[in-house]
Amino acid sequence: MANYDKDFIKTAPSPVLLEVTQLDTGSAVALVGHPIHVMMVHFPVAFVFALLGIDLIYWWSGDDFWVRVGLWTAGVAFWTGVAASIVGTIELLAVRGIRLLEASWSHAVAAMTLVAIAGANWGLRLAYPESILPHGLTLSCMAAVMVGFAGWHGGNLVFHHGVGVLIEPKS
Ligand code: HEM
Repeated sequence: MANYDKDFIKTAPSPVLLEVTQLDTGSAVALVGHPIHVMMVHFPVAFVFALLGIDLIYWWSGDDFWVRVGLWTAGVAFWTGVAASIVGTIELLAVRGIRLLEASWSHAVAAMTLVAIAGANWGLRLAYPESILPHGLTLSCMAAVMVGFAGWHGGNLVFHHGVGVLIEPKS
């Protein structure tokens, strides 16, 4: 973590700022101080929700065009989830302060469950495109719920525990 004045932070009225003085929870995989995992997670979140919308449109319209759109969207949701998870796992294993937080493990379990569902959803569409209704749609609903859990726990890490936050007094 970057140099900062601990006494300045201890007088700050925020429990998050106090917490980051106890353990180093700075990001290990960052670009100019910005955690790369945080930059990547928008893609699985967006594509998982988009897939649910696509499946609902397919159910409503019956137009096979949406089967192919769904196949590609499911693939992007899965592979961007895998990529984000690799970077997130490096953070988890490399930074002691992140490893020691219970919330990190809750987030990792929710995220891995999500990625497993997203992978199954993509595989189903590759092998059995005729099974989107109801199996693909069911997996898309489950993935949307798990993205909610994983995202909430991830946000908890950043906003409640200050993980990956750079704290520096202005000079
Ligand atoms: C095993 C897999 C994963 C691990 C170990 C992990 C770990 C972490 C860690 C340590 C953070 C704190 C920020 C940082 O240090 O970069 C974080 C934040 C976050 N993660 Fe993950 N992550 C994983 C997978 C995912 C996936 C697949 C998603 C997609 C839904 C996701 C969504 C988030 C979100 C939304 C945040 C908060 C970012 C923000 O609020 O700006 N994570 N994760």
